[in-house]
Amino acid sequence: LKPVRVAMLGCGTVGTGVLALLADNREAITAKAGRPIEVGPIVVRDLKKERAPIVPRDSLTRRFEDVLAADVVIEVMGGMTPARDWILKALSAGRPVVTANKDVMAEHGVEVAAAARAGGVDVFFEAAVGGGIPIIRSLKESLAGTRVRRIAGILNGTTNYVLTRMAEAGTDLRAAVAEAQAAGFAEADPRADLDGLDAARKLAILASIAFSARVLPSDVAVEGIGGLKAHDIESGQRLGWACKLLAVAEQVGGRISLRVHPAFVEKSHPLASVRDSYNAIYLQGDAIGDAMFYGRGAGSLPTASAVMGDLIEAVRFLGQPARGLQAAEGRPDFLPPGEAVSRFYLRMQALDRPGVLAQVAAVLGRHDVNIHSVMQTPEGERSAELIVRTHPVREASITNALTELGRLEAVAGVRACIRLQPDGL
Ligand SMILES: NC(=O)c1ccc[n+]([C@@H]2O[C@H](COP(=O)([O-])OP(=O)(O)OC[C@H]3O[C@@H](n4cnc5c(N)ncnc54)[C@H](OP(=O)(O)O)[C@@H]3O)[C@@H](O)[C@H]2O)c1
Repeated sequence: LKPVRVAMLGCGTVGTGVLALLADNREAITAKAGRPIEVGPIVVRDLKKERAPIVPRDSLTRRFEDVLAADVVIEVMGGMTPARDWILKALSAGRPVVTANKDVMAEHGVEVAAAARAGGVDVFFEAAVGGGIPIIRSLKESLAGTRVRRIAGILNGTTNYVLTRMAEAGTDLRAAVAEAQAAGFAEADPRADLDGLDAARKLAILASIAFSARVLPSDVAVEGIGGLKAHDIESGQRLGWACKLLAVAEQVGGRISLRVHPAFVEKSHPLASVRDSYNAIYLQGDAIGDAMFYGRGAGSLPTASAVMGDLIEAVRFLGQPARGLQAAEGRPDFLPPGEAVSRFYLRMQALDRPGVLAQVAAVLGRHDVNIHSVMQTPEGERSAELIVRTHPVREASITNALTELGRLEAVAGVRACIRLQPDGL
C-alpha cells in the first residue's frame, strides 16, 4: 500500500515522542491505520539544533510551504503565532490536521472549524487537553448522549505537583515550584500554570464540547495557587482535606458557571488521590452518573499517544467526506462569578479577648454567611487563630463579608479564604 505522507510542524518534546512511538509500534500502527505512515517534512525553527537520533535530519526544513505536499499535517509546535495561521492554511488547503495546541483550540476553535469545513477535512485535538487522557473523543462521541451537568478537573500537572509537594513535604510554594522545575514538571516561566490560565484554556475547550456552546478562556473566573500557604494546606489536611487546583464547569439553572481556583477536596473523594503531575477529569451527567478519567496530563510519550490516536483516525478516513467539527458558535448564558455558590474555609488572626467571636459571627451573619463550624487556637498571649468553615454561600456575600471583617479592630487580618469542593461533587 502507498504510504501516507505526514508533515509535522515542530519537533520538540511531543514531536520527538511521535517519532519514537511510530518507530516502536510501527507494525501495529500500520495495521490500525490501514497504510504505512511516513513522517516528513518536519518544520522546525533551528536547523542546527542538536536532536534525538530518532529525528530524521534530512526531513527538517524551515519552510511551511513544503508541508502542503503531505496528506496529513501534525501541529506540535505550540503557541499562537505562527501555529494558528499554519493550521488554518493546512486545513483550507484540504489537509486534515492533528494538533496538540490548546491555545489555538481554546481561543480560535470556531475559526479552525470553519477552515476545516472550507477544506472539506477534519481537525483532531485530543492531545490539547489532559495529554494522554482520552477525554476529547470521549466527550464528543462516547458521551454525546449524556447531558453533562458538571466537569471538575485537575487539568494542570505543574500545579498538582507543587500542591502535592506542599502537602507531603510541608514545603512552601516557592520551594515546591523550584522542585517542580528541577524535576522537569514546570517551565522556566511557570506563571501561566501557577496563575490558573493553562487550566482555564483547557476548561474552555472541555466546556465548549460538553455544553455545545462557544466558551472562551476569558469566560472563566480564574484564581491561581500563588496565594496559598503551606500552613493552610496543613490545616486542611488535619480537617481531612487535600488542596487541589480545580477547574469547574457546571450547569446552574440554565446558566453555565466556569471557574478555576484552589479548593479543599475531601480525602475520600477520588480527585483527592490524584497526586504529583497526574491529571483527572471528573464528570457528572444525567445518564452516566459519575465518571472519572485519570492519567498523565503531559509528557513526551503520553501526549504522543493522543496525537497518534488522532493520526490513525485521520489516516483511516483520508479521502472520505469530513465528519465535521461541530464547534458551536452560540454564546451561552454565563452565571456571574459573584452568584456562584461555594462553601468556604476562612482563616483569620484575631485578638484573644471576650466578644471577638461574636463580632466575627455578626459580620458573617449580616452578609448571609451561615457558619458551619469554628475552631479557635491561641497564638501567643493575646492573639488567636480562627478557622471558620461556612455553609454554601454566594461568592459576592463572602467578598463583602471579608471586606467588613478586615475593618474590625479585633481582626488583625483574614489570612486565607479557600473554597471547599462544590456541593454534590
Ligand atoms: N510537552 C508536553 O508534555 C505537552 C503536553 C500536552 C500538550 N502539549 C502541546 O504540544 C505542543 C508542543 O509542545 P512541546 O512541549 O513539544 O514544545 P517544544 O518542546 O517547545 O517544541 C516546539 C517545537 O516547535 C518548533 N517551533 C516553535 N516555534 C516555531 C516556529 N516559529 N517555526 C518553526 N518551528 C517552530 C520548535 O523548533 P526548534 O526545535 O527548532 O526549537 C520545536 O521543535 C504545544 O502546543 C503544547 O502545549 C505539550
